[in-house]
Amino acid sequence: MPSNYSEDELLEAKRQIGSILHKLRETVRALSEKENADRLKSQITLAQRRIQALGIANALIEEAMGVRIWRLSENPAMIGEAAEWFSSKWDIPVEAYQKSIEGSVHCADSVPQWYIVRLGNAESGRIIAGCGIIENDFHDHPDLAPNLCALFVEEEHRGRGLARRLVEHAGSEAHRLGRDELYLITDHVGLYERFGWKYRGDVTDSDGVTVRLYQAP
Ligand SMILES: CC(C)(COP(=O)(O)OP(=O)(O)OC[C@H]1O[C@@H](n2cnc3c(N)ncnc32)[C@H](O)[C@@H]1OP(=O)(O)O)[C@@H](O)C(=O)NCCC(=O)NCCS
Repeated sequence: MPSNYSEDELLEAKRQIGSILHKLRETVRALSEKENADRLKSQITLAQRRIQALGIANALIEEAMGVRIWRLSENPAMIGEAAEWFSSKWDIPVEAYQKSIEGSVHCADSVPQWYIVRLGNAESGRIIAGCGIIENDFHDHPDLAPNLCALFVEEEHRGRGLARRLVEHAGSEAHRLGRDELYLITDHVGLYERFGWKYRGDVTDSDGVTVRLYQAP
């Protein structure tokens, strides 16, 4: 759905509606618990209608905020900025990302591939999330490949399904690239289970640290 509002405006509207909804729900609860709740029926019904209306408004805002995932192999002008961004998140030299992402440009149908999400979905919006698909995320099981890597969502944009969108997108991208399986390594326990991924056991990373390995559904 096209929208004339910026992502910031939509986020703020969503926050405000959320807080009104919270108060309305508390009101309904408080009125319903009163001894004379029967006589307050019309007030309760009105509050419930408002809750429903604001719920619809929130759903429409979420729809308008639909997420665009940029494939960097198709957008080489974004590589420098993206490499800096990934490097700042994972403390890995910017050159390493630059090299891997540049390598994807002439091979848009093979691994590696890199993806970002921008604020407001606009080309000029700052990067707020991203991930990559690489052959091996520096662990001792190169047979379990390719790997989803570097998944990161900026703190203020967490909790609105961006990681889920990126993880699902990576799954369908792996298929597009002719790779039926996709794996990742992580310290998280319980996160990837939510996306339907299966814990396959532990592997050792290049620092000799034991990490958990997951397989895409
Ligand atoms: C982990 C991270 C990517 C989650 O991003 P996000 O956009 O907030 O996640 P989503 O909104 O898509 O959440 C999807 C689901 O995971 C859950 N979830 C989010 N963060 C979680 C965490 N740290 N642990 C367990 N579950 C988590 C959410 O509750 C949600 O569950 P639901 O759909 O059943 O309600 C983000 O917190 C981040 O970038 N962290 C720092 C980097 C990192 O740890 N990356 C992963 C590397 S393996």
